[in-house]
This record gives sequence, C-alpha cells and structure tokens, in this order.
Amino acid sequence: MSTNWEQINEYAQQWIKEAGDRIQETFEKELTVQTKSNRKDLVTNVDKETEQFFIERIKETFPTHRVLGEEGFGDDVSALDGIVWIIDPIDGTMNFIHQQRNFAISIGIFQNGIGMLGYIYDVVHDELYYAQKGKGAFLNDQPLPRLQPVSIREAIISLNATWVTENMRIDPKVLAPLVKEARGTRSYGSAALEMAYVAAGRLDAYITMRLSPWDFAGGLIIVEEVGGIVTNLYGEPLHLLGQNSVFVSKPGLHEEILTQYIRK
Ligand code: IPD
Ligand code: CA
Ligand code: CA
Ligand code: CA
Repeated sequence: MSTNWEQINEYAQQWIKEAGDRIQETFEKELTVQTKSNRKDLVTNVDKETEQFFIERIKETFPTHRVLGEEGFGDDVSALDGIVWIIDPIDGTMNFIHQQRNFAISIGIFQNGIGMLGYIYDVVHDELYYAQKGKGAFLNDQPLPRLQPVSIREAIISLNATWVTENMRIDPKVLAPLVKEARGTRSYGSAALEMAYVAAGRLDAYITMRLSPWDFAGGLIIVEEVGGIVTNLYGEPLHLLGQNSVFVSKPGLHEEILTQYIRK
C-alpha cells in the first residue's frame, strides 16, 4: 500500500498548530525548569508535555510510525527503516524560558531515511515553514522562492560567538576571518529557526559545531527544497542518528566558504 503523504501532512499541520496554541497558553503559568547534561542545558515541563502530545496523536493515528524525540518519550530508534518522525518539541528552550519568543517546534518525517515532510513552527509569530519532498517549501502556504547566489561580502551568516572564542570543537582562527569578511553575523539561539531563516532568505548561511538530529531534521528538508545546501562543516552529508557539525547555506556561498575558509 502506498503512503498517503497528503493525509500525514494534514494531521502534522493540525497537531503542530494545536501544540503551538497549548504552548502559548502556558505563558501565563509557572514553568518547571530543570537542567540536563550541564547548567546551560535546560528543559521545562512544556518541552516534555509537547513531545508527549505529539507522540500520543501519532501512535493513535499512525500506529506503525516511530518517533525519535529529544526528550526521550518516543521510540528507541537505532535505524531509519519505515516512517520515523524526528521531533524537537521546543527548539530554543533557553529563549522560551527567558524571552518567550525565538523558539520553534521542529519536525522532520522520514521514510527509509529519506526526508519527506519538514516543519518548523515559530509559535509566537504564527509562522509555519513547511516542505514536502519534490513539492517545494512554503511559509504559511506562500511558496518560498529558490535561493539565489550571494557573495560572502554581502552575506549575513548566523553563528554563535562561542565558535570564535576558545572552545573544544574548532580553532577560533578558522571562522574569525569569515566573521570579518561577511556583511554581518547573527545568532538567534534556535537552530531550527536559523535553518528556516536560511530557507526564507533572511539569512544566507548558518554554521554550528554540534547539533542533534531533532535540531536539524525539519530544517534539512525545508532548506533542500529551496535549493540550499545542508552538510557538516566539512561538506559531508549529515548523519540522521547522531550529532553533527552543521553548515547550511545558499548554493555557491557554501562552496566559497568551504574552499576559502574551512579547507584552507
Ligand atoms: C538548542 C538550540 C540552540 C543550539 C543548541 C541546541 P534546544 O536546542 O537549537 O540554538 O545551539 O545546540 O541544543 O535544546 O533548545 O532544543
Ligand atoms: Ca534541549
Ligand atoms: Ca533543539
Ligand atoms: Ca528542544
């Protein structure tokens, strides 16, 4: 039996909007904030409740689908056969806690490891970025145009300041010249939104040294549908079941940054 992607898409969009409404309702209430791996790695009751909300609905409607969720309420996914939803219930938890904005729900739906549907929902701005493989990407149902080339000198690059200071993952001297040469740099604190902004042409590239699959699963599908390139920092494809450095960019600019700054 062939998979009814239109139906899956309809449910996914409906649940994402509903989850967004529920998140907004919590703004009035007190949050329970806990730390995970370190003092900066935060999680709230809303992250957990939102992930559970999706899992309950997915399991009820599509019992054969599996879920890989950041907060661990889904399945133990060690291979990507069949249909797998990769979910980040709140991407940008620190922003959610401190700012009540600049966070998103991010979902990628994969079939045998191929990205079929991608969603990034900026709850506060009611902006749903969405893509279906081969059918283009949309922002609130408006088609997003294919990405056009841009030079480094005219590019806005999203990059956390961590990666140009002393850190464990990259020599700060690698990216500092790029920061100087670019027109500007930004950092929004939500990998999903930063990928959505590249897809929408609001940013030209996004570089970060370590993300988990749920941070980039939705964005990967959306960015690729508008002709953007998503790799690790060395230009290799991302592993969907582990951590990666992530380099998202307009075509052309991707090659230019790789050859002139990273592989130099
Ligand atoms: C985080 C955000 C942040 C990125 C971190 C992620 P979370 O996700 O995407 O921008 O720099 O690496 O862990 O924990 O808020 O879902
Ligand atoms: Ca987290
Ligand atoms: Ca995340
Ligand atoms: Ca999260």
